[in-house]
Amino acid sequence: MSFQDKTIYQIYPRSFRDSTGSGVGDLRGIIEKVPYIASLGVDMVWFNPFFVSPQRDNGYDIADYRAINPSLGTMEDFEELVAALGSHGVGVMLDMVLNHTSTQHEWFQRALAGEKEYQDFYYLRPAGPGGELPNNWVSKFGGNAWAPFTAQYAGMGITPEGAAENGFALNAAGPDAGNPDLYYLHLFDVTQADLNWHNPRVRQEMAAVVKFWLDKGVHGFRFDVINLIGKPQDLPSAPAGTDDRAMYTDGEAVVPFLRELAAASFGQDPHSITVGEMSSTSIEKCILYSNPDSRTLSMAFNFHHLKVDYLDGKKWTRTPFDFDALKSLLSEWGVGMQAGGGWNALFWNNHDQPRANNRFGDVVNFPVESATMLATTIHLMRGTPYVYMGEEIGMTDPDYTSIEEYRDVEAINAFEELVAGGMSREEAFATVHAKARDNSRTPMQWDASATAGFTSGTPWLRPTNQEHINVEAEEAGGRILPYYRKLIRLRKELPLIGYGTFAPYALDHPQVFAYVREYDGQRLLVLNNFYGTPTQVEVPVEFVGGRVLISNYDDAASPAQQAVSLRAYQSLAILI
Ligand code: GLC
Repeated sequence: MSFQDKTIYQIYPRSFRDSTGSGVGDLRGIIEKVPYIASLGVDMVWFNPFFVSPQRDNGYDIADYRAINPSLGTMEDFEELVAALGSHGVGVMLDMVLNHTSTQHEWFQRALAGEKEYQDFYYLRPAGPGGELPNNWVSKFGGNAWAPFTAQYAGMGITPEGAAENGFALNAAGPDAGNPDLYYLHLFDVTQADLNWHNPRVRQEMAAVVKFWLDKGVHGFRFDVINLIGKPQDLPSAPAGTDDRAMYTDGEAVVPFLRELAAASFGQDPHSITVGEMSSTSIEKCILYSNPDSRTLSMAFNFHHLKVDYLDGKKWTRTPFDFDALKSLLSEWGVGMQAGGGWNALFWNNHDQPRANNRFGDVVNFPVESATMLATTIHLMRGTPYVYMGEEIGMTDPDYTSIEEYRDVEAINAFEELVAGGMSREEAFATVHAKARDNSRTPMQWDASATAGFTSGTPWLRPTNQEHINVEAEEAGGRILPYYRKLIRLRKELPLIGYGTFAPYALDHPQVFAYVREYDGQRLLVLNNFYGTPTQVEVPVEFVGGRVLISNYDDAASPAQQAVSLRAYQSLAILI
């Protein structure tokens, strides 16, 4: 299916709308809000995982790929949701977490119970002669990436009742199950065991999972950390002083594995749209992952532009964003992917990122201008834009004041590690406050009430500024929501946005990120001022007198001369 003119909306089901008062969002809550979703004009909704899971990583730890977590709904609810969205022409994109399973998954449990066949589903390795771990890789959620292959980590505090609520039975395997001399690999949480994709049985099972959802009328798939599935079979340690991620990311096997998966599942569906989440990747690899000739995926997410506020490449640090780096990355990826026939997924926000408004905008002085400027920047580029729930109403990071308010395993581990490493509790808190994934996971703000219209119970994460940032207020006279609707509509109306070429413009401007799109005799110049102070930019003479396609300042006029003034966080797109 063509995806050039489409826009995808992302919903974090736990946080969209709770229909039962449990404090956690659910599928029936999403069904209630289908008219709102359709009103945005989006083509497809990507849902974060709502499969059976102990929820150690909020559903990215899957215990059953083919069933809905009962606390979020039933298969009937899911089918109703697909139909309800479908009646508005909106498709469904599911999150396929195929790099790892929960240790509560039947395969891991059967491996623990001694079934060799299932032991081959995972990376089990003996300790070294002196008891050393199999290699020096570290977990992305803190600590090392190996855990003893015994049942001790499998339950991780889950009670039988908690398990039942999430749709699985806590496995009976006793504390002696498994082999204590073996370790299993987990690049994420200790309850997320990496699958051995070199085993053809694993690849067949994964294709069968995708087929199962295709048969339910699902045409969209987002593949979680999919460039980690091609680890070298000997799992080599990183040479001293080097980044271990290089050892397991973008391995040679990723492309053949993806090609096989495509051929056996979504590749047979002419309507499928697929996107791979590519952690720490390269343009070269993403071309292979998304160029139609390589028969892999439709497009790729990369995160380089969201690391420009990392000090020395480290997430748990605080520093203002580097505008030059941001511009260069957006340009290089725009140009590089185009040159290689690849396709970018365009985004600022998702469930793993703090809100972009807090990072790259000014939520105090220019909340509307900076939110709409960021939107313009992304939506008019070459690629497919993704809107993360709440972004379209200008949601921001919550104003939490204590670490107890955070829920995410990654944030909690990071706080403890920072303090253990000698950082003061205040500084560690400030760092987590700025970087936690929970920043974007707070409930969708529907109205100004205490629970933001999200739940009649106690929300699992507390909303903070819903008094002035909420859907009701935006519908009644806000400026962000209508602006998003217009951007989404323009992509459908003007083929240049979906199909045009991309070229950066005036790359050395200190405040402006600009680019030119071109298609079928038309040209579009997009100017975005990333700062709260006015500036000027010299535009090519042809654009003088051009039509204002869109601007986040209502009175923006067609340029009367080459020197164009931009106000605080102004975006201006001129069509000729
Ligand atoms: C991806 C997901 C993230 C999850 C991780 C492990 O990065 O986006 O939320 O924790 O993979 O599955």
